Amino acid sequence: MQKTMDTIVSLCKRRGFIFPSSEIYGGSSGFWDYGPLGALLKRNVREAWWNDMVTNHNELDVPQGAVTTFQMVGLETSIIMHPQVWKASGHYDLFHDMMIDCRECQARFREDHVATSQCPRKPSKIPGAHEDCQLTEPREFNLMFKTNIGALSGEDNTAFLRPETAQGMFVNFKNVVDSSRVKVPFGIAQVGKSFRNEITPRNFTFRSREFEQMEMEFFCHPDQSRQWYEYWRNRRFQWYVDLGITSDNLILRDHDPDELSHYSVGTADVEYAFPFLPEGEYGELEGISHRGDFDLRSHMEGKLVREGDELVVETDEHGQPRHKGSGKDLTYFDDQSRERFAPHVIEPAAGADRATLAFLCEAYHEDEQPDEKGNLKSRVLMKFHPKLAPVKVAVFPLIKKEGMPETAGRLYQDLKQAGIASVYDQQGAIGRRYRRQDEIGTPFCVTIDGDTAEDGTVTLRDRDSLQQERIPLDTVVDTVHAKLRG
Ligand code: GAP
Repeated sequence: MQKTMDTIVSLCKRRGFIFPSSEIYGGSSGFWDYGPLGALLKRNVREAWWNDMVTNHNELDVPQGAVTTFQMVGLETSIIMHPQVWKASGHYDLFHDMMIDCRECQARFREDHVATSQCPRKPSKIPGAHEDCQLTEPREFNLMFKTNIGALSGEDNTAFLRPETAQGMFVNFKNVVDSSRVKVPFGIAQVGKSFRNEITPRNFTFRSREFEQMEMEFFCHPDQSRQWYEYWRNRRFQWYVDLGITSDNLILRDHDPDELSHYSVGTADVEYAFPFLPEGEYGELEGISHRGDFDLRSHMEGKLVREGDELVVETDEHGQPRHKGSGKDLTYFDDQSRERFAPHVIEPAAGADRATLAFLCEAYHEDEQPDEKGNLKSRVLMKFHPKLAPVKVAVFPLIKKEGMPETAGRLYQDLKQAGIASVYDQQGAIGRRYRRQDEIGTPFCVTIDGDTAEDGTVTLRDRDSLQQERIPLDTVVDTVHAKLRG
């Protein structure tokens, strides 16, 4: 089976996973809306992440030699922050792509996407574009969206939509330490929208202008940061595998030294073989970075630059910090060792939309199954991990009489009351109802039939194995719960 992006995009539209934003007005490039099933799927991705990182973070599974427990807390910080945040962090000066314009057709491209000196758009697609289109020299283009705070516009009132959620955690480091009584090492997690004015959004939701991040900043003692980096690097890779991404399609790639950001001591990317990429190429799902003490120091002292092996405050022609920090003390005092230090940070930074897209691509399968008359029918099957599946159970009455719809309706209500996302469907032949659920990845279907009134049992059908078992009607909720916990 050849998985193509076109089939996946079309399934997403047809079954209500993802729609182009503002589609009735022609769409808006780089923006996407999640439909009824997509909203459930993405919510499940976020919950699986939050549960693994915060609610149930498994304090005992720690690297050798490190302290044996750690705490994790969550935050929700504002999208528009004080403009000084982005100056001290370096985003104001450095968060840009090199951009090239075509003088003939005014199309705009990222320099690294332009392989030749000609306009890379097909001339047939752009009225008036010529094969001898002239390209401008590369220019810097800051990716942060600008807005104004209050009624006045102008430099003093300019603010930015956050391009990452991470800074909300760094600027609240002291607040969290003072209010939650956490001790280093500990982590702060956040899930939220980020915005980047990408020059060329592309590949469905992979590169969008509005997207959601799932980031965690882990603060630790500098002497232990290498071990924690290894720990988080491996643990984050395993998260995707545990949720159903086969490791053949997933790699953990360490950055070469010349790829590292100026602050990073080490970075590894979790990458997935998306179907839009050529064979053997992978796209980034998540970066795990060892950021040293760069972030807390920047917000104390001001924007930092590298000088040899040192990070130093960048100064202007008067010897003053080019972009000031807060001047607040963001060091940490360990009351057991009586030591004061600026913690190092390990940051696993994932994209909720990219993870959702990878789970969609991985789940997509086609096969052939016999219908009621024994004829082979092709079936599209979304093999979501049960934890991620938007709908967990579909309830069917075999026929619309003999009390079956009433019994099925009651079971449907019981499942919903138990917090299990379920649907009720009595329309069409039973085989077609199964196929409708396979196509949206529902792991279990329950059918109420003529025997149910006789012996109180129902059929429970498994999406992947297609096995059907008879179980007592009054155990369906517990059985499904147990299978979902699995
Ligand atoms: N705080 C570090 C940081 O933001 P990043 O690698 O720029 O690191 C982290 O972003 C993750 O956010 C990426 O691995 C990706 O999953 C997601 N992401 C970044 N830009 C994106 C975009 N334009 N569209 C969708 N997801 C994006």
